[in-house]
Amino acid sequence: MKDINTAPFLQEMVELTSQMYRLGWDERNGGNISFLLHENEVAPYLATTSSLRTLPLGFSAPALAGEFFLVTGTGKYFRNVKRDPETNLGLFRIGEDGQTAELFWGYRDGGRFTSELPAHLMSHQARLSVDSENRIVLHCHPTHLLAMNYIHPLDEKSVSHTLWQMSTECIVVFPEGIGVLPWMLCGTNEIGLATAEKMKGFRMVIWGMHGVYAAGKTPDEAFGLVETAEKAAQIYTLTSHTERINTITDAQLKELAEAFGVSYRQDFFDC
Ligand code: 13P
Ligand code: ZN
Repeated sequence: MKDINTAPFLQEMVELTSQMYRLGWDERNGGNISFLLHENEVAPYLATTSSLRTLPLGFSAPALAGEFFLVTGTGKYFRNVKRDPETNLGLFRIGEDGQTAELFWGYRDGGRFTSELPAHLMSHQARLSVDSENRIVLHCHPTHLLAMNYIHPLDEKSVSHTLWQMSTECIVVFPEGIGVLPWMLCGTNEIGLATAEKMKGFRMVIWGMHGVYAAGKTPDEAFGLVETAEKAAQIYTLTSHTERINTITDAQLKELAEAFGVSYRQDFFDC
């Protein structure tokens, strides 16, 4: 068996958590990531004949039975992942019953997967139903996007439109806009179901006054979505208290989307 610390998927996860921590998106244990792995990626590093432990999911994810995931641990700090991946991350397979996680590596201190696993796995199922190549779901608490939640109407049409206006690249990067959920109790199956419902139409979903979820085919895609939205929200918060004397017009936003050939939410414009 090869050393799992050399596995590209593990190195990617270490890099991702470190960068998200450095950007201030994941204070303390804030945020969580799930990375769908293919069996042939895992096989060179781990024997998958017998698991270390079996953990109940607390919900049912039948469409993901047999799938492998690398997932951050609950209560674990992103800043510590690089120094000790085996304690702060876990690699498991969803059991054939769709209701258990068979742990093959990680959570070394007896820990378990993130409390937000319902939102992660339900979002994976939702994204896979519209994009068979989706592999990453990540959650974090980016500062400016969160700040915007307190001073901007929290509906997806106006939040999406405002973010598009804040930077020319936005409508090209997330032409579908950004989904918005009101404040809800986190760590529950209910917020998981609500997030997954939004994930059928969006790759990013704001959890009101809490943070954001993003999904993608690759870590770069999901990370890039948050990075772009967070930058736009930063520009919004930097300019919201002063008179705006210039803007990107709706006609220019549409011109951009058409020039880049992206399919955008036309109903997020007033006309
Ligand atoms: P976990 O430590 O359980 O991953 O929770 C962090 C978080 O951001 C909750 O929304
Ligand atoms: Zn959170």
